[in-house]
Amino acid sequence: MADTAHSQAPTGAFYRARIASLLAIAPLGIWTALHLWDNLSAFGGAQPWEQAVTGARHPLNQAILVVVVLLPLVLHTIWGIVRLASSRPNNVRYGNYDNLKYLLQRLSAVGLLGFIGAHLWLAWAQPRFVEGRPEPFAEISHEMAHHTPTLVVYILGILAVSYHLANGIQTFAMGQGVVASAGALKRLDWVVYLAFVLLLAMGWGSVFALWRAG
Ligand code: HEM
Repeated sequence: MADTAHSQAPTGAFYRARIASLLAIAPLGIWTALHLWDNLSAFGGAQPWEQAVTGARHPLNQAILVVVVLLPLVLHTIWGIVRLASSRPNNVRYGNYDNLKYLLQRLSAVGLLGFIGAHLWLAWAQPRFVEGRPEPFAEISHEMAHHTPTLVVYILGILAVSYHLANGIQTFAMGQGVVASAGALKRLDWVVYLAFVLLLAMGWGSVFALWRAG
Protein backbone atom coordinates (compact mmCIF):
# COMPACT_ATOMS: atom_id res chain seq x y z
CA MET A 1 0.00 0.00 0.00
CA ALA A 2 1.31 3.46 -0.85
CA ASP A 3 2.50 5.64 2.03
CA THR A 4 -0.04 8.45 1.69
CA ALA A 5 1.85 10.79 4.05
CA HIS A 6 4.79 10.82 1.64
CA SER A 7 3.11 10.42 -1.70
CA GLN A 8 0.69 13.34 -1.28
CA ALA A 9 1.54 16.62 -3.02
CA PRO A 10 2.32 19.52 -0.60
CA THR A 11 -0.95 21.11 0.51
CA GLY A 12 -2.04 24.76 0.67
CA ALA A 13 -1.44 24.65 4.43
CA PHE A 14 2.19 23.66 3.81
CA TYR A 15 2.80 26.67 1.56
CA ARG A 16 0.87 29.01 3.88
CA ALA A 17 3.07 27.93 6.81
CA ARG A 18 6.25 28.47 4.76
CA ILE A 19 5.16 31.91 3.56
CA ALA A 20 3.93 33.03 7.00
CA SER A 21 7.19 32.03 8.68
CA LEU A 22 9.31 33.55 5.89
CA LEU A 23 7.40 36.87 6.11
CA ALA A 24 8.00 36.87 9.89
CA ILE A 25 11.78 36.86 9.32
CA ALA A 26 11.93 39.04 6.23
CA PRO A 27 10.77 41.70 6.03
CA LEU A 28 9.06 41.78 9.45
CA GLY A 29 11.88 40.51 11.69
CA ILE A 30 14.55 42.55 9.90
CA TRP A 31 12.39 45.67 10.09
CA THR A 32 11.77 45.05 13.81
CA ALA A 33 15.52 44.87 14.52
CA LEU A 34 16.13 48.08 12.51
CA HIS A 35 13.24 49.80 14.30
CA LEU A 36 14.77 49.02 17.71
CA TRP A 37 18.14 50.24 16.44
CA ASP A 38 16.59 53.53 15.19
CA ASN A 39 14.97 54.09 18.57
CA LEU A 40 18.37 54.11 20.24
CA SER A 41 18.76 57.59 18.79
CA ALA A 42 16.61 58.67 21.76
CA PHE A 43 19.92 58.88 23.62
CA GLY A 44 20.67 61.94 21.44
CA GLY A 45 17.36 63.67 22.28
CA ALA A 46 14.36 64.89 20.29
CA GLN A 47 15.90 65.88 16.97
CA PRO A 48 17.90 62.71 16.22
CA TRP A 49 15.01 60.50 17.41
CA GLU A 50 12.40 62.28 15.29
CA GLN A 51 14.70 62.15 12.28
CA ALA A 52 15.44 58.43 12.71
CA VAL A 53 12.05 57.13 13.84
CA THR A 54 9.18 59.36 12.70
CA GLY A 55 10.83 61.54 10.04
CA ALA A 56 9.68 60.76 6.49
CA ARG A 57 12.70 59.72 4.47
CA HIS A 58 10.60 59.15 1.38
CA PRO A 59 7.30 60.63 0.17
CA LEU A 60 5.84 57.12 -0.03
CA ASN A 61 7.09 56.32 3.48
CA GLN A 62 3.71 55.42 4.96
CA ALA A 63 2.66 53.34 1.95
CA ILE A 64 5.98 51.44 2.11
CA LEU A 65 5.43 50.87 5.84
CA VAL A 66 2.02 49.38 5.16
CA VAL A 67 3.31 47.02 2.45
CA VAL A 68 6.64 46.06 4.02
CA VAL A 69 5.63 45.87 7.68
CA LEU A 70 1.89 45.91 8.34
CA LEU A 71 0.80 43.51 5.62
CA PRO A 72 3.36 40.81 6.58
CA LEU A 73 2.42 41.42 10.23
CA VAL A 74 -1.29 40.91 9.54
CA LEU A 75 -0.65 37.74 7.49
CA HIS A 76 1.73 36.34 10.11
CA THR A 77 -0.70 37.19 12.91
CA ILE A 78 -3.63 35.44 11.22
CA TRP A 79 -1.48 32.37 10.65
CA GLY A 80 -0.19 32.62 14.25
CA ILE A 81 -3.69 32.78 15.72
CA VAL A 82 -4.66 29.64 13.79
CA ARG A 83 -1.52 27.89 15.14
CA LEU A 84 -2.31 29.11 18.65
CA ALA A 85 -5.82 27.76 18.46
CA SER A 86 -4.52 24.30 17.57
CA SER A 87 -1.68 24.29 20.18
CA ARG A 88 -1.86 21.59 22.84
CA PRO A 89 1.06 22.30 25.24
CA ASN A 90 2.03 19.28 27.38
CA ASN A 91 4.74 20.90 29.50
CA VAL A 92 3.63 19.35 32.77
CA ARG A 93 4.11 15.82 31.39
CA TYR A 94 7.23 16.61 29.35
CA GLY A 95 9.08 19.36 31.17
CA ASN A 96 12.08 19.56 28.82
CA TYR A 97 13.76 22.72 27.53
CA ASP A 98 12.53 22.45 23.93
CA ASN A 99 8.98 22.03 25.15
CA LEU A 100 9.36 25.12 27.34
CA LYS A 101 10.54 27.09 24.28
CA TYR A 102 7.44 25.93 22.35
CA LEU A 103 5.21 27.24 25.17
CA LEU A 104 7.12 30.53 25.52
CA GLN A 105 6.91 31.15 21.76
CA ARG A 106 3.13 30.95 22.08
CA LEU A 107 2.83 32.92 25.32
CA SER A 108 5.00 35.68 23.84
CA ALA A 109 2.74 35.67 20.76
CA VAL A 110 -0.30 36.34 22.95
CA GLY A 111 1.57 39.18 24.70
CA LEU A 112 2.63 40.58 21.32
CA LEU A 113 -0.92 40.61 20.09
CA GLY A 114 -1.82 43.07 22.88
CA PHE A 115 1.42 45.02 22.80
CA ILE A 116 1.61 45.54 19.03
CA GLY A 117 -2.08 46.49 18.90
CA ALA A 118 -1.65 49.14 21.59
CA HIS A 119 1.70 50.34 20.25
CA LEU A 120 0.44 50.69 16.66
CA TRP A 121 -2.60 52.63 17.78
CA LEU A 122 -0.95 54.94 20.33
CA ALA A 123 2.39 55.58 18.64
CA TRP A 124 1.44 55.42 14.96
CA ALA A 125 -2.23 55.55 13.93
CA GLN A 126 -3.67 57.94 16.52
CA PRO A 127 -0.93 60.62 16.25
CA ARG A 128 -0.79 60.46 12.44
CA PHE A 129 -4.42 59.95 11.43
CA VAL A 130 -6.35 61.49 14.33
CA GLU A 131 -4.01 64.26 15.43
CA GLY A 132 -2.53 64.86 11.98
CA ARG A 133 1.19 64.66 12.87
CA PRO A 134 3.67 61.91 13.82
CA GLU A 135 4.26 61.05 17.47
CA PRO A 136 6.46 63.79 19.01
CA PHE A 137 9.51 62.84 21.09
CA ALA A 138 8.30 65.05 23.95
CA GLU A 139 5.05 63.08 24.19
CA ILE A 140 6.39 59.54 24.11
CA SER A 141 9.23 60.34 26.51
CA HIS A 142 6.81 62.09 28.88
CA GLU A 143 4.50 59.04 28.85
CA MET A 144 7.44 56.74 29.50
CA ALA A 145 8.58 58.74 32.51
CA HIS A 146 5.24 59.71 34.07
CA HIS A 147 2.78 56.96 33.15
CA THR A 148 3.89 53.73 34.84
CA PRO A 149 1.55 51.41 32.83
CA THR A 150 3.17 52.67 29.59
CA LEU A 151 6.66 51.97 30.96
CA VAL A 152 5.70 48.48 32.18
CA VAL A 153 3.93 47.59 28.91
CA TYR A 154 6.97 48.68 26.84
CA ILE A 155 9.37 46.73 29.08
CA LEU A 156 7.27 43.55 28.82
CA GLY A 157 6.40 44.08 25.14
CA ILE A 158 10.06 44.36 24.19
CA LEU A 159 10.85 41.23 26.22
CA ALA A 160 8.13 39.39 24.26
CA VAL A 161 9.32 40.72 20.88
CA SER A 162 12.95 39.82 21.63
CA TYR A 163 12.13 36.28 22.75
CA HIS A 164 9.60 35.64 19.99
CA LEU A 165 11.85 36.85 17.17
CA ALA A 166 15.09 35.29 18.49
CA ASN A 167 13.50 31.89 19.14
CA GLY A 168 11.63 32.24 15.85
CA ILE A 169 14.97 32.29 13.99
CA GLN A 170 15.51 28.72 15.20
CA THR A 171 12.03 27.39 14.49
CA PHE A 172 12.17 29.13 11.10
CA ALA A 173 15.52 27.52 10.25
CA MET A 174 14.16 24.10 11.27
CA GLY A 175 10.85 24.54 9.51
CA GLN A 176 12.41 25.72 6.24
CA GLY A 177 15.01 22.97 6.32
CA VAL A 178 17.96 25.40 6.68
CA VAL A 179 19.36 23.27 9.52
CA ALA A 180 18.68 19.60 10.07
CA SER A 181 21.48 17.96 12.09
CA ALA A 182 21.58 17.97 15.90
CA GLY A 183 25.00 19.68 15.79
CA ALA A 184 23.77 22.51 13.58
CA LEU A 185 20.77 23.00 15.86
CA LYS A 186 23.03 23.27 18.91
CA ARG A 187 25.17 25.87 17.14
CA LEU A 188 22.03 27.76 16.21
CA ASP A 189 21.21 27.99 19.93
CA TRP A 190 24.04 30.49 20.23
CA VAL A 191 22.67 32.61 17.38
CA VAL A 192 19.33 32.64 19.22
CA TYR A 193 20.92 33.69 22.54
CA LEU A 194 22.92 36.43 20.81
CA ALA A 195 19.90 37.72 18.87
CA PHE A 196 17.80 37.72 22.06
CA VAL A 197 20.40 39.71 24.03
CA LEU A 198 20.97 42.21 21.19
CA LEU A 199 17.25 42.82 20.57
CA LEU A 200 16.60 43.18 24.30
CA ALA A 201 19.55 45.55 24.77
CA MET A 202 18.42 47.77 21.88
CA GLY A 203 14.78 47.78 23.00
CA TRP A 204 15.32 48.29 26.70
CA GLY A 205 18.11 50.77 25.95
CA SER A 206 15.66 52.84 23.90
CA VAL A 207 13.04 52.70 26.66
CA PHE A 208 15.64 53.82 29.18
CA ALA A 209 16.68 56.76 26.96
CA LEU A 210 13.05 57.86 26.50
CA TRP A 211 12.30 57.48 30.22
CA ARG A 212 15.40 59.51 31.12
CA ALA A 213 14.47 62.29 28.66
CA GLY A 214 10.92 62.52 30.00
C1 HEM B 1 7.00 41.97 15.61
C2 HEM B 1 6.10 41.05 15.32
C3 HEM B 1 6.43 39.59 15.10
C4 HEM B 1 7.56 39.01 14.62
C5 HEM B 1 8.82 39.72 14.16
C6 HEM B 1 7.35 37.58 14.61
C7 HEM B 1 8.27 36.64 14.22
C8 HEM B 1 8.10 35.27 14.26
C9 HEM B 1 9.02 34.29 13.79
C10 HEM B 1 10.35 34.60 13.13
C11 HEM B 1 8.49 33.06 14.00
C12 HEM B 1 9.08 31.71 13.64
C13 HEM B 1 8.43 31.21 12.38
C14 HEM B 1 8.70 29.75 12.15
O1 HEM B 1 8.73 28.99 13.11
O2 HEM B 1 8.89 29.40 11.00
C15 HEM B 1 7.22 33.24 14.65
C16 HEM B 1 6.39 32.21 15.08
C17 HEM B 1 5.14 32.39 15.61
N1 HEM B 1 4.45 33.58 15.70
FE1 HEM B 1 5.24 35.42 15.38
N2 HEM B 1 6.09 37.31 15.08
C18 HEM B 1 5.50 38.51 15.39
C19 HEM B 1 4.22 38.68 15.87
C20 HEM B 1 3.32 37.67 16.14
C21 HEM B 1 1.97 37.89 16.58
C22 HEM B 1 1.31 39.26 16.80
C23 HEM B 1 1.40 36.68 16.74
C24 HEM B 1 -0.01 36.52 17.18
C25 HEM B 1 -0.62 35.46 17.39
C26 HEM B 1 2.41 35.66 16.42
C27 HEM B 1 2.25 34.28 16.49
C28 HEM B 1 3.23 33.33 16.25
C29 HEM B 1 3.12 31.91 16.54
C30 HEM B 1 1.92 31.17 17.16
C31 HEM B 1 4.32 31.32 16.15
C32 HEM B 1 4.74 29.86 16.29
C33 HEM B 1 4.40 29.08 15.07
C34 HEM B 1 4.88 27.67 15.19
O3 HEM B 1 6.00 27.42 15.63
O4 HEM B 1 4.09 26.81 14.87
N3 HEM B 1 3.55 36.32 16.03
N4 HEM B 1 6.99 34.60 14.78
